[in-house]
Amino acid sequence: MDLLKSKNSVLNIDGISLKKLALKKTTPFYLYSADQIKKNVLAVKKALGAKNNLVCFAIKSNSNLNIIKEYKQYGIGADVVSLGELKLALKAGINAKKIVFSGVGKTSEELSYAISKNILLINCESQNEVELINKIANKRKKVVNIGIRINPDIKVKTNKKITTGEKQNKFGVSTTEFYRILNIRNNYKNINICGLSVHIGSQIKDLLPYKKLLSSLDKILIKLKKINFNLEYLDLGGGMAIPYFKNEKKFKINELGKLIKNFNKKNNLKLIFEIGRYLSGNIGIVISKVIYIKKIKDRYFIIIDAGMNDMSRSAIYEAYHEIISVEKRKGKFSKKIEFVGPICESSDTFGLYKNFSKLKEGDFVCITNSGAYGRSLSSNYNMRPFIEEIIIKNKKVQTIRKRQKIENIL
Ligand code: LLP
Repeated sequence: MDLLKSKNSVLNIDGISLKKLALKKTTPFYLYSADQIKKNVLAVKKALGAKNNLVCFAIKSNSNLNIIKEYKQYGIGADVVSLGELKLALKAGINAKKIVFSGVGKTSEELSYAISKNILLINCESQNEVELINKIANKRKKVVNIGIRINPDIKVKTNKKITTGEKQNKFGVSTTEFYRILNIRNNYKNINICGLSVHIGSQIKDLLPYKKLLSSLDKILIKLKKINFNLEYLDLGGGMAIPYFKNEKKFKINELGKLIKNFNKKNNLKLIFEIGRYLSGNIGIVISKVIYIKKIKDRYFIIIDAGMNDMSRSAIYEAYHEIISVEKRKGKFSKKIEFVGPICESSDTFGLYKNFSKLKEGDFVCITNSGAYGRSLSSNYNMRPFIEEIIIKNKKVQTIRKRQKIENIL
């Protein structure tokens, strides 16, 4: 988070001391910055926004209603993958004509609802889904706009759990299958295939996979012209990385923007983006309290009150989220330290650190870059309630989702 600053060794956002805030609140909690949201949106719009382009926020990365409303006020649409996310996007006031619906396993209940709301595009991931949409639309005497999601089989250097565009991944259809569906499109009277969509993975750090993607799309578009098939929308997905490590290079989003602009000069398609992490990754942190410091032979365990149920990325993907002391003390630990949560499994760890500045029980730390796939991936594991979410906006602190009450999950 660019807006996380240190003054007299205490972290603050917009001049609000995180120590004072943490003392007033029940930890752990998520803390977001509205200014950071704005900054991210402006950067994305500058790089990828054009008159015809639509930037959608991938709701799965952060499903807090108020956070979505923040994006909405800048004209951002929504990429949804379930009935719940679709309802949430609509509740946030996002116009249905700015909503795209992806996912390999959409049920007829989900599709019926999406059809009834006339959303911009349902991105289909199999012929079976195309058929089901046609059937539902036929019953409702409607013609529904759909996109077909292609799996372009592009290798991406990222965690193997978050690649989505390689042929062994379950997503989309092969290019051959795509042409086959186009060939028989006249069988489907109640759908209008007007879009093509792709999404090749998440936390993609370099431009190479996107270059490969654009060149394979180029070939497809040439072929579509040959067969006189008019495409209106091209949904390029998301996946742009954010730096999680200090001094890690930033994703060259402006360069990507240039490549895409160039690519689209001859095609002149309406472009859609489905961006999660790049918009929301650095907007939030988790503030947590050190409960115990436990010494073993080679290290100190710093047992904090946030667990893998609250922020699971480190446990699931072994992802690194730098932990910083809210108030930096003088002196350093003589041994390495490991931040761990209270959950009863050893994957509940937030990583090892050497030469970490001293901590005492009762001190606060923050887990950085937790805005994307943080709260939205959290659970009630170990019967722990969902934690509070707070935003700093116009230098004011505001709760945007209350801490869940244990009684409500009993
Ligand atoms: N569109 C589709 C169809 C997707 O499946 C995804 C993410 C996105 C857009 C947004 O991708 P982004 O811009 O955020 O990279 N839980 C994992 C990430 C899973 C991503 C799944 N798909 C994590 O915490 O790293």
